[in-house]
Amino acid sequence: METRTDKITEIVLKAARKARRETSSAPQQEGRGRANWPLDCTVGPGLEGAIACETKIGFVNGTRGELTYCGYDIFDLCAYSTFEEVSYLLLYGRMPTAKQFASFKRKLVKSRSLPHTLRLLMGFPLEQMHPMACLRLGTNLMRQRLTWQDSDAARPDSVAAIAADEDSIPMETIPKGEQKAIYEFKKRKTERPAKVPEGTEDAAGLAACIRLISGLSTIAAAVARVRDHKLPIEPDPELGHAANYLYMMNGVRPTPEQERIMDIALILHADHGMNASTFASMVVASTLSDIYFSIGSGIAALSGPLHGGANEAVLVMLEKIGHPDNVDAWFDKAMRRKKKIMGMGHRVYKTYDPRARILGPLASYVARDNPDAALLLRIARKLEKRVVESLGKEKNIFPNVDYYSGIVYKAMGIHRNMFTPVFAVSRVAGWTARVHEYLKKNRIFRPRALYVGAFGKEYKPLDERGRGKTTSR
Ligand code: ACO
Repeated sequence: METRTDKITEIVLKAARKARRETSSAPQQEGRGRANWPLDCTVGPGLEGAIACETKIGFVNGTRGELTYCGYDIFDLCAYSTFEEVSYLLLYGRMPTAKQFASFKRKLVKSRSLPHTLRLLMGFPLEQMHPMACLRLGTNLMRQRLTWQDSDAARPDSVAAIAADEDSIPMETIPKGEQKAIYEFKKRKTERPAKVPEGTEDAAGLAACIRLISGLSTIAAAVARVRDHKLPIEPDPELGHAANYLYMMNGVRPTPEQERIMDIALILHADHGMNASTFASMVVASTLSDIYFSIGSGIAALSGPLHGGANEAVLVMLEKIGHPDNVDAWFDKAMRRKKKIMGMGHRVYKTYDPRARILGPLASYVARDNPDAALLLRIARKLEKRVVESLGKEKNIFPNVDYYSGIVYKAMGIHRNMFTPVFAVSRVAGWTARVHEYLKKNRIFRPRALYVGAFGKEYKPLDERGRGKTTSR
């Protein structure tokens, strides 16, 4: 008997067949094969076209709309694999054997429980912060808790302090300035112990990558709950990664169908070439900072509306349009104002994004018994038609990964503020894998800028510069 998860697999396979039919005759994308450094390549603003390194992790074929992780097609991975297996693939460059996979999953289970980090995190006003800011903070607190990066500095024992009394969250009791400040925490010399306590490790190694891949979902779920005035939930060691993420967020075990859809969403977002957040992570890591810091930078870069933040912006846009009847007027006005349509267009894809080919039908599937999602989907489909008719041929603007993901998440009960964190919970696999790969042949990133400013200006003291406004350059 065909189950509902089989139906979801069939949706993915159908999308794959359609994609292959429509794109197999398109030209191949450049950007494959070994580099013979230094390279001649055409570079545009925003480093468009620049080649920064070699990688075996993934390839985005922007002309054909194909996405490959370590040689495997994204449609096959979505149809047959899991996020855990894909994370292993990205980190180690090959599919695991049964034994390797069991051991990897045990490590993920162990790393998923972060009670101390969550305790630290809950000392901050999470409900007033954007979840991406909370996530970024969470990676810093993981770093603090799980590594000895900062241990030779004198620092307060914040775990004990927060546990002791809520009012004793770090602050000066009387704001008298640095000299006279009295801290509620006693300054304590913390030396690196002769024997590193269990659970601490190198902040730049594979173990840290696994910790982050597993732990970020715990932090994101806890942030969702705290913002919803609920306490975080411990992960269930019996559940897989996607199911645990939903369980820790919603407090109920997901159905196999919900788990499968979340798993596919996580697989789809796990890696995507040298995108802005991956590059940000790699730039930080290339200074031989550590993986926790570099993932924090990836989260920061991902939060922007031109990148991962677009999934949230798409939902805001669709809700603002409100009804399919309003699409035409809204779109015409947006074009007159030269507004960018969120969830449309891509730096690399000049055709339909393969991830949107899967998420679109999945959005239809989840919307079938969800009237709110169904309305948004009708708006989205009509807007897509208008955008593709007007900008598809002329400017190669088609839906990207963010266009339909929000509808899928909304139908699964995820608040719109938590959409970009879902992206981060997945992309952390690609960030860590690429950082880990790059560090094996590390070279600090250092591009140049063309100076177009002035030279030889005469310095004048402040009181000789007049009273009026000066121009900045
Ligand atoms: N809506 C309308 N027009 C667009 C859009 C869009 N979404 N995207 C690009 N264009 C137009 C531009 O106005 C420009 O037109 P022009 O040549 O007449 O000036 C042309 O297409 C090229 O656009 P650029 O901004 O130069 O393309 P770029 O490669 O720099 O930008 C980007 C790619 C940032 C994704 C852009 O398409 C965009 O802003 N999209 C909306 C935001 C979005 O969905 N981001 C998520 C991307 S996927 C991801 O990061 C996970």
